[in-house]
Amino acid sequence: MLPPETALWNFVEAAVRDVFRAYNFQEIRTPIFEETALFARGVGEETDIVAKEMYTWNDGERFDEDALRKEWISRGDTENRLYVEGTTPVNTYLNPLRLLLINHRPPRSGSGPVKPELVCFRAQVTPEAVELLLRARAHTRSAEFVRQYGGDALYLQTAGLRIVVPSGTADSATWIDTQEVEIEQFQARTPVFKSSQSLTLRPENTAGVVRAYIQHDLEKRGLNKLYYIGPQFRRERPQKGRYRQFYQIGAEVIGPASAGSESPARDAEVLEMLATLLDRLGITDWNLELNSVGTPADRAGFNEALRKALEPVAATMCADCQRRAVTNPLRVFDCKVPEDQSIIETLPRITQFLGEESRKHFDAVQEILTKVGVRFSLNDRLVRGLDYYTRTAFEFTHGALGAQNAILGGGRYDGLSEALGGPAAPGIGFAIGEDRLVMSLKATAEGVLRKPDVYVAPMAGMNGDAARLARELRRHDLVIELGDDGFRLKKSFEAATKAGAKYILIVGENEVKADAFALKNLATGEQVSVARAELARKIQGR
Ligand code: HAM
Repeated sequence: MLPPETALWNFVEAAVRDVFRAYNFQEIRTPIFEETALFARGVGEETDIVAKEMYTWNDGERFDEDALRKEWISRGDTENRLYVEGTTPVNTYLNPLRLLLINHRPPRSGSGPVKPELVCFRAQVTPEAVELLLRARAHTRSAEFVRQYGGDALYLQTAGLRIVVPSGTADSATWIDTQEVEIEQFQARTPVFKSSQSLTLRPENTAGVVRAYIQHDLEKRGLNKLYYIGPQFRRERPQKGRYRQFYQIGAEVIGPASAGSESPARDAEVLEMLATLLDRLGITDWNLELNSVGTPADRAGFNEALRKALEPVAATMCADCQRRAVTNPLRVFDCKVPEDQSIIETLPRITQFLGEESRKHFDAVQEILTKVGVRFSLNDRLVRGLDYYTRTAFEFTHGALGAQNAILGGGRYDGLSEALGGPAAPGIGFAIGEDRLVMSLKATAEGVLRKPDVYVAPMAGMNGDAARLARELRRHDLVIELGDDGFRLKKSFEAATKAGAKYILIVGENEVKADAFALKNLATGEQVSVARAELARKIQGR
């Protein structure tokens, strides 16, 4: 992004901060990358975002197991064992292969029991590794082992992995022998890391905000109204309005139910704020599409009905839909394959399955919107592409955007905090695609860019005096472009015109002596001599 276009982005962001302030939102800044499991659990493993679009890598210290083995051997330690553990790879970045290299020193006479040295590292799962894993799993789990190497074992558990440990204690366990496990086999394919962690460039920011809510105990503050502006990353096929690094402007209202976080008034307020923002930016031809995706209980019934309806037809649908029909039927509504659309049209809709509470909540949101004069249309196919949504779900679309017509999307996520291990914390929020927002503006960069008020043109040897004058004028909130005394007057005039300055101010020896300067209006050609003390007022036209 280059100037002058960045002026449009600044224009948008300034309006955003201004409007959000009026609704008492405050800024939160979360990290650009987080632990992979946060997004997998928060956004949902079956969503396109998690299944296909995340930028994920293993972050850890390089581990040189060969050097370590040599060191052990040189110390006269004899028994090096390698143990492999992990689970069948559903998601390789969630379940990386875990290897434990164990140095089991032979006990010396007179010394007490020896504690084996243990180094643990992780690698990506390969087909060969799976074979080994299955064999390793034959060695059953042992609580004793977990106790002995508790730290590492616990880490495994928090990463959502099942633990496979050998039977018996570390001393009596039957280990897979190093000879059997060709460690180089893994090394050749992918580097292995000591205690590596799987990290992901954030594909969205709601999970990060809720993680922060839990981690920093934001519950204590009651209702949190937070907003953010920043880059997000998804490996999608790039096209107009769809990028791999894109920017979101988002907001989240989250807190304990006792702080009113569940109230339909919050849903309506957020939607009304968005309407206000778009109007303020001069974007008027938007359409607000509204739906309720119900509570998890409502959705259980819906999922059942969807599964039934999909059973006879799934085989004729795309591969993704065939999988979704089994794992997460709701996600069938995300399908973009044209041939599948006629089938999807015939599927049951969530609105038929809303319970009394959900319906009342949804009605209340609509009632407030109508009262405050925010127009909307109901769309019962709208389920949104992320798993955390409950009840209100919405999108604002804009005709001028073409295929990627969703300028923003959002909704409630009443169970997200609990799904991430936090307290109950109902919430609602949205994210605007800033790239798309800028594309739908009628305003132009030239129109919002603030051009220099004055081009200060120093005559030969006058750089210092010109800089002093520029400094004084900038204190009056004027935009000053400062020239160079190496320029002849003609070149200074050209530079001033090119910069789009309103005035040119000549700083020569005589002017400094008289403490009055030649100020020329570049549009009208009018030139006057103005005393230093009067300059700012004259330029501001006061
Ligand atoms: P989302 O619908 O995935 O929701 O993204 C929100 C908006 O980000 C989209 O409507 C679109 O304007 C923009 N966007 C998404 N992907 C791209 C892309 N590849 N290129 C350009 N723009 C894109 C969320 O992200 C949720 N976190 C919103 C939310 C907040 N829900 C509750 N709170």
